[in-house]
Amino acid sequence: MAFELPPLPYAKNALEPHTSAHTLDLHHGKHHKAYVDNLNRMVEGSPLASRSLEQIVQETYHDTGKTGIFNNAAQVWNHNFFWKSMKPHGGGNPSGQIADAISRDFGDFAKFKDEFSKAAVGQFGSGWAWLIADKGKLQITHTSNAVDPVATGQHALLCCDVWEHAYYVDFENRRPDFVKAFLEHLANWDFAAENLGKAK
Ligand code: FE2
Repeated sequence: MAFELPPLPYAKNALEPHTSAHTLDLHHGKHHKAYVDNLNRMVEGSPLASRSLEQIVQETYHDTGKTGIFNNAAQVWNHNFFWKSMKPHGGGNPSGQIADAISRDFGDFAKFKDEFSKAAVGQFGSGWAWLIADKGKLQITHTSNAVDPVATGQHALLCCDVWEHAYYVDFENRRPDFVKAFLEHLANWDFAAENLGKAK
């Protein structure tokens, strides 16, 4: 069965003013859709067509002959994950187990925010900032282009897309302002907590 573009988990205008309906029209309706369409076209009729998205990402990551398939498969997965990493009226301080794990591994939430912002803003060019769980410990990473924790065998908890298409319509070149808005108004800590539960 062909891969599909999942619907956004909220209304197009639900993340305004931090991410506009226009951005989501383009980002979900054009960019994410293009990755899905490209992937389907590239794997059609090959054994990869019957694999899961995660299997394709892992099987093609180190295969230099399948870079195009890797890039599109990983970007489909990354965007599926990114939409769920945000929610209307999200952001701010988490509570419960995820908050305890952040305090344990980063010192406190302010230090986490500082480190996550540095990773997101400091990613040179297109890429992603991630909160991951690796061998029971929370870490912040950033990856280039389509590379993600699925490829590297880590467990993603939350991500922020720092490709220009994620913020240029709303913030122009001000990536730090988008990252601040993500942390203060959009981050979906319920989703991160759910992923932490699965990582154990
Ligand atoms: Fe994106």
